[in-house]
Amino acid sequence: MATHYDRKRQDLGNIVLLEHVNVTIPDQRLATIFYLSGLGLTRDPYLMAGIENMWVNVGRSQFHLPSRGPQVLRGHVGIVIPDPAALKCRLQKVAPLLAETRYAWEERDGVVEATCPWGNRFRCHAPAPEFGDTELAIAYVAFDVPPGTARGIARFYEDIMGARAAVDGAAGGETAVISVSATQRLRFRETARPLPDYDGHHVQVYVSDFSGPHRRLLERGLVTEESDEYQYRFRDLVDPASGKALFTIEHEVRSLTHPLYARPLVNRNPEQSNRSYVRGHDEFRGTY
Ligand SMILES: [Fe+2]
Repeated sequence: MATHYDRKRQDLGNIVLLEHVNVTIPDQRLATIFYLSGLGLTRDPYLMAGIENMWVNVGRSQFHLPSRGPQVLRGHVGIVIPDPAALKCRLQKVAPLLAETRYAWEERDGVVEATCPWGNRFRCHAPAPEFGDTELAIAYVAFDVPPGTARGIARFYEDIMGARAAVDGAAGGETAVISVSATQRLRFRETARPLPDYDGHHVQVYVSDFSGPHRRLLERGLVTEESDEYQYRFRDLVDPASGKALFTIEHEVRSLTHPLYARPLVNRNPEQSNRSYVRGHDEFRGTY
């Protein structure tokens, strides 16, 4: 029988979902203005509904924003949001409310770049084939990493985590690209600029093979928390060959049997308003 398909193209690797990015924030009011009114995202109405934390839905993923001193991700988050004109309108409208903060936004090369009141940076992309068919998602998290670390980081995800990984770019400025689900990515881009100290923010991923990475991390003394039956954490990305620490970013690793896996998330249509209300259009009507 003739073969017509490259079956490897549909392989996902072991990491099947980047569900949340967690950065602590000192002021839920300012976070509400930025994430909900500005970006147009949706507060999780069911969990963390008080003032001690806020979960913000972005399609199938979330930002987790517990109330504490500000954390700033060492890189930026790429999100897919439809209707750039409406997004820019919202970002302009909230600017006076965030005037005394690090809030900023600009459009560059067709991408809307927004900075939260504490300096976290978001690149907001219109839906495009490179992100699959989603119209609302966390598409990637891009970390700035020291020179000469991208290849080792790619090996870490391949050998320890069982993920699919590739390295792009020229020597001295390489990027490790880690597949997370069919379309989400973790990117680790080498930069010669000095990096701030790691401040404890984290990302959470779901893995199909839960025990394999745990065993390999444990052998290397890298497990930092045995959270519960369905979750553990690690912080250091190391070169599997040398054991050398390359970059620090805490990962919350969950099994596909975790009770929260693929939990349905509510997403709203941010264009809906009391003055131009359209019955039946409260929910986000795109794909995610
Ligand atoms: Fe978390």
